Amino acid sequence: MCKAFIFDLDGVITDTAELHFQAWLRMANEEGYYFDRKINEQLRGVSRRTSLSIILAGTKLSEIQTTVLMARKNKYYLEQLESLSEKDILPGIRSLLLELNARGIKVAVASASKNARYVLYQLGLIPLFDAICDGWSVVRSKPEPDIFIYAAGQLRVNTCDCIVMEDAEAGIHAARAAGMQVVGIGPSARVGQADWHFNDTATFDLTTVLENAEPNMM
Ligand code: BG6
Ligand code: MG
Repeated sequence: MCKAFIFDLDGVITDTAELHFQAWLRMANEEGYYFDRKINEQLRGVSRRTSLSIILAGTKLSEIQTTVLMARKNKYYLEQLESLSEKDILPGIRSLLLELNARGIKVAVASASKNARYVLYQLGLIPLFDAICDGWSVVRSKPEPDIFIYAAGQLRVNTCDCIVMEDAEAGIHAARAAGMQVVGIGPSARVGQADWHFNDTATFDLTTVLENAEPNMM
């Protein structure tokens, strides 16, 4: 039975992947590391630190150098977020949140991003969530299940009663490992292993998902 919907943020509620890409690209160009859109796909859903290690492609840096590069990329990313607003909410998401609220289904964000609260603030969506779980909430990032288990705890629901909406392979693995059913948003090559698959948020159909959600076994 679905008692809660847990949303990934980047790529599900708003498409910040391009903004992350531009910020990493600027940093990589300044430092002389090769980076392109194909590599950027590997950064989807994973933490800032893991993203940097993918870009470094085996180059070892000290902890101080790593922290400095992550901070510089985040500064560039925050500059881009200044112009984010309600117009950047992906199609159908605001009405979906309102419908879940009206049905009494709890809603949370479970994002690897340490900027999740700021992004939701810029989008004007904070009041529509019962819990906001972000990159500060747990130590282990997706694909580990920790952020989703933490979100279920914040909502006071069992993990088996949660449905997750994700656009990243790492997020789908994390939700599965947390014992949750998953809606995949995006190309089937990336999210085809989810329980339900929609090409984009505009085509998502809540009725189909709720009708086929697993009954509560507890
Ligand atoms: C995820 C994004 O939501 O957050 C990743 O999909 C990003 O691309 C990660 O690296 C961490 O984000 P931030 O804002 O903490 O650097
Ligand atoms: Mg995502």
